[in-house]
Amino acid sequence: MHVIHIQRYKNPRITLRSDYRDLILSVVPFCLNGLTLLLSKTLIDMQKKQGYFLYGLIFSVKIDYLCILKAYITMIFWFSGTGNSLWLAQCLQAATSEATHDISKDLLNGNTSYNLKDNERIGFVFPVYGWNMPDIVKRFICHMELKNYRENYTYIACTCGDDMGKTETEVEKLLHSRGWTLHSAFAVQMPNTYVCLPGFNVDSKTVEEAKLALAPQTAKRICDIVLHRRVSNLLTIPGKMAWAKTHILGSFFRKFLMDSRKFHVTDKCIGCGKCSIVCPLANIQLTAGHPAWGTNCAMCLSCYHHCPLHAIEYGSQTKSKGQYINPLII
Ligand SMILES: Cc1cc2nc3c(=O)[nH]c(=O)nc-3n(C[C@H](O)[C@H](O)[C@H](O)COP(=O)(O)O)c2cc1C
Ligand code: SF4
Ligand code: SF4
Repeated sequence: MHVIHIQRYKNPRITLRSDYRDLILSVVPFCLNGLTLLLSKTLIDMQKKQGYFLYGLIFSVKIDYLCILKAYITMIFWFSGTGNSLWLAQCLQAATSEATHDISKDLLNGNTSYNLKDNERIGFVFPVYGWNMPDIVKRFICHMELKNYRENYTYIACTCGDDMGKTETEVEKLLHSRGWTLHSAFAVQMPNTYVCLPGFNVDSKTVEEAKLALAPQTAKRICDIVLHRRVSNLLTIPGKMAWAKTHILGSFFRKFLMDSRKFHVTDKCIGCGKCSIVCPLANIQLTAGHPAWGTNCAMCLSCYHHCPLHAIEYGSQTKSKGQYINPLII
């Protein structure tokens, strides 16, 4: 299997090759369009009947549409707790006009086999947890099946409160173990959602607004790079001491500080069931009007942040901490 390592991001040959492919694919529809129009014109000349021109025009527009779809095709796999990564996936979907797949839903339903079309891009969009990909994303990549994979352009686009450490390298290694290549990696700084340790809270309103104001520009730059299948890791945010964060702090964090048994409700709970509805892993059951947490938890904190009464606590760490839900998702 052909593997491109970190230096590959600066390899102009790869960029050029994918640009050529895009150029050819965008020219093809117009050539076909021209050909069909020519054909319809000949028919007019021969038959002198207006109807043929109309049929030809409809036919050509249909071919054009199909070819454009083929040129801008993408498969986006996303996971999100509070909507930041979902919003980024929606930006990418709008730019590439293609289907998104909810990682948690597909994992729960056992639908993890996908048929790739020629030239189809593959995108993974997710939040950074402990300077790494979330375990659920790891599990998904290990389980999923990509039929017809032929070195398809593959990228990750993650969202983080501050920085991502070595997330990109970890995903690259995992994809490599499946025989797939990571071509590009991106990160967007978004409002922080982690609140379960002392000293960690949601951002102040000013910081939240500043991050949300800047995010669309970064998302647009990412979409441009993905559309042109450029090989890039220029828009990543490794932060300081990236290796130590991922491998020392992050490992400790994932092993000891992500424990769903610490969730509980206060007497503010009115049993509305929202926490159960918003849990991407169906990990919350309402028993006797109160939520009970199971063990299949991604620690996405969707339940905590969505509770309208702020009735969910994580141990004793979340008292007087804030809540956040992405306001930009469609
Ligand atoms: C369990 C957990 C761990 C997190 N770890 C990190 C981290 O290591 N670095 C960081 O910058 N942000 C971290 N965050 C913040 C999120 O990555 C960030 O807010 C992200 O945009 C949330 O995305 P979502 O709204 O799609 O869930 C963490 C959040 C959670 C819930
Ligand atoms: S969302 Fe909040 S109030 Fe509603 S059931 Fe869950 S914990 Fe209780
Ligand atoms: S229980 Fe809460 S933190 Fe765990 S996966 Fe469900 S919503 Fe996320």
